[in-house]
Amino acid sequence: MAARVGLRPDDLWVKRDDWLGFGGGGNKLRKLELLCADALEQGATVLVTGGAAQSNYCRLTAASARRLGLGVVLVLAGTGPGGRTGNLALDALFQADVRWAGDVPGRALDDAVRAAAEELQARGERPAILPFGGSNALAARGYRACAAELEEQAPEAAHVVVAVGSGATMAGLVAGLGAQSVLGVDSGAVPDAPARVTAMVDELSSMGLSREPAGATLRLDRGQIGPGYEELTDQARRAIDDAGSCEGLVLDPVYTAKAMAGLTDAVERGEIRAGERTVFVHTGGLPGLFGHPLASELAARTRRDA
Ligand SMILES: Cc1ncc(COP(=O)(O)O)c(C=O)c1O
Repeated sequence: MAARVGLRPDDLWVKRDDWLGFGGGGNKLRKLELLCADALEQGATVLVTGGAAQSNYCRLTAASARRLGLGVVLVLAGTGPGGRTGNLALDALFQADVRWAGDVPGRALDDAVRAAAEELQARGERPAILPFGGSNALAARGYRACAAELEEQAPEAAHVVVAVGSGATMAGLVAGLGAQSVLGVDSGAVPDAPARVTAMVDELSSMGLSREPAGATLRLDRGQIGPGYEELTDQARRAIDDAGSCEGLVLDPVYTAKAMAGLTDAVERGEIRAGERTVFVHTGGLPGLFGHPLASELAARTRRDA
């Protein structure tokens, strides 16, 4: 894989956060550890949050609720599964109460989450609303901790590359490692990822928890989004094929494939050079592959006449 992206064999390392913990794994568990501790401290009986139909974060919120003996309500954008499985199958396995919000923009989804929480409260529950994508400064501290792990595990890393959605993963890494070490690749999950990441880094900085002063210049590649969130680009498709065929490494079409495409592009542009140790933070998302049209396309390749 290193050779495919233009690096030397020992340059490319992968931090396997896709193997984290339970519920199918992924970066959101580091954030949920802190968000759930906070919810428990507030005496919550039920977690409430919202996201895309194939949200990995919502799936892991449901898994976390199961582990903690809490209820969980997921308010998802869209009108229903429409034949897709993926994360939805696991949401059901983890007994989430799923409410479909229709095709709504982000702010309306937040309103629907608040309405669900109010309804629960009226029934005598104590709901804790967790932020969209599990991203706020508290959650970003989970990735500040990951940065400390990386400093021990890969002390000579010149670059740490990570997918960016709602931004706390990159923010925590920047806080821990410095903005110059972290290349974030925007998946297009939100329209204002740079502002969100900056705000979280600045908040951590104001708490004395960031190596970066407020207003740091980020390395954030917004050129891999393509036609939009969840839309596969040719570069991401190539990254999925390369990682699968070279390493047996699964990238998901929505986040990690775009991040690997961004890494490849950075090598092509000379931003990352052969001989520089580069850590790709694999943030998970495998269940989402089975909720994406790509899964059927891959399976069709096995047909004799394909
Ligand atoms: C697999 C995967 N990778 C990366 C991300 C991005 O993380 P963040 O929202 O902290 O930017 C997400 C977010 O949904 C994700 O599910």
